[in-house]
Amino acid sequence: MSDNIVQLPVAFEKNTIIVVFGASGDLAKKKTFPALFGLYREGYLDPSTKIIGYARSDLSLDDLHSRITPHLGKPNGSADDAKIEQFFKMVTYVHGPYDTTDGVTKLKLHIEELETKMNVQKSHRLFYLALPPSVFLTVATNIKKVLYDPNGITRIVVEKPFGHDLTSARALQNNLAPLFREEELFRIDHYLGKELVKNLLVLRFGNQFLNASWNKDNLQSIQISFKEPFGTEGRGGYFDSIGIIRDVMQNHLLQILTLLTMERPASFDPESIRDEKVKVLKSMAPIDHNDILVGQYTKSKDGSKPAYLDDETVTPNSKCMTFAALSFKIQNERWEGVPIMMRAGKALNEGKVEIRLQYKAVASGVFNNIPNNELVIRVQPNPAVYMKFNAKTPGLSNATQVTDLDLTYSSRYKDFWIPEAYEVLIRDVLMGNHSNFVRDDELDVSWKLFTPLLEYLEGPNGPTPELYPYGARGPDGLIDYLGKHNYVLHSMGNSYTWPVTKPEEEKN
Ligand code: NDP
Ligand code: BG6
Repeated sequence: MSDNIVQLPVAFEKNTIIVVFGASGDLAKKKTFPALFGLYREGYLDPSTKIIGYARSDLSLDDLHSRITPHLGKPNGSADDAKIEQFFKMVTYVHGPYDTTDGVTKLKLHIEELETKMNVQKSHRLFYLALPPSVFLTVATNIKKVLYDPNGITRIVVEKPFGHDLTSARALQNNLAPLFREEELFRIDHYLGKELVKNLLVLRFGNQFLNASWNKDNLQSIQISFKEPFGTEGRGGYFDSIGIIRDVMQNHLLQILTLLTMERPASFDPESIRDEKVKVLKSMAPIDHNDILVGQYTKSKDGSKPAYLDDETVTPNSKCMTFAALSFKIQNERWEGVPIMMRAGKALNEGKVEIRLQYKAVASGVFNNIPNNELVIRVQPNPAVYMKFNAKTPGLSNATQVTDLDLTYSSRYKDFWIPEAYEVLIRDVLMGNHSNFVRDDELDVSWKLFTPLLEYLEGPNGPTPELYPYGARGPDGLIDYLGKHNYVLHSMGNSYTWPVTKPEEEKN
């Protein structure tokens, strides 16, 4: 745990060797190497850094480059060929097995060769494990045996899943703990690197008007929604034993939830933040099994998109959940009585991740059914923070109209580089900053919260998922579910549009 971190972390700016295990894989190709390139392109990765890809496949450097290159464009699609060429000069590749020490011994020699060329006795070593969980521990053990230098500084980046339930997460942790100290481990949850998730603490604690209203006296419901417009396409085999709750809720959305509901940390240092996250997790009541909505997608209404069960890699008649809505109760003075919903689904009507805080209604009397204020923090796409509030319709009308205070990043921050989540997080690892990584005790509490629910859902008495067509908003029960948890849906049939336009009756 954190208590024994006494020194300020060393920033890996020079003399750094980064080894990407699983370099031939999907994550490495789509996220890890592009993030390293992005940091290099923007001047946040020193050109002296050496990057070694390691995997079983016998790839030439050209093979590796051609796999990665299509993913190196800027978000607007443009790539910088000269920069890409320079970047690849930093990259080498070693192939070898994961399950014996032969490969890492070869890697060790390669690292030493590079250190000689770099003219350093000891490099900073960062090992990025972009690997499936099945080989993860073996590789970590081999790193410790062969590549770990007790006198140098080593950092290990690990990717989810961090276990399948409380027992397996603890087993993983118990196996890792003797190998690496907690300050050497960086458990990535890439949602913690997203700009709007990183902004949550500033929005909350840096604005008194929000800070003061962030509680049960003012808010009547909170929703964290994750919507993807595509199904498991090609990943059914993986997904079938995981389900939507393990895939995005126990990790990504729970991270958002803790940042959204934790108390003000004593400071923004990593341990103060993570202490508060653990505290709020411990204040959560067990998730009520009877207060959930689970679903699985079927063919789209027009038949053009497949049902989940059409995937041949999925168990026939699988009850795997591709949609879930859950509700959390936080038993503390700030949140007692406020329903906090999480909903996540694949194959829905759109792709969107957002946080929606709905305020209580204003006192009745002067206004007749005036909509509730809502603060929406849209994580993606097109990041934005907007507050839906009521104003008088401009002109002679005395009617009220919903409008918004709108911070849309693409219009407000035109010239800013908004880094990708993995760019942010790898930079944090290089700087030794643990704020945006999952701590061991945090992981433990999160599994304690989710494991009983998963056992019930996956046990003999678990519910059968409600079916919804590919491309729907979710199962039919969703509107009732939201309503039951205090969410008042004003937008349906209401005149609210964005950007705000002149009301229809005044247009003529
Ligand atoms: P909506 O009015 O579309 O939705 C409000 C909430 O109600 C969402 O949680 C939505 O769920 C839910 N909802 C709506 N219809 C249904 C339904 N039939 N069944 C169940 N749930 C439903 O969004 P907003 O109020 O946020 O804003 C309206 C539009 O304005 C949006 O497109 C928004 O993106 C845009 N806007 C954009 C801004 C910006 O980009 N800066 C600023 C202000 C507004 P669900 O998410 O599943 O639809
Ligand atoms: C991953 C899940 O962790 O997160 C995927 O395994 C999901 O199923 C992805 O699609 C979502 O990440 P992002 O950054 O695309 O929202």
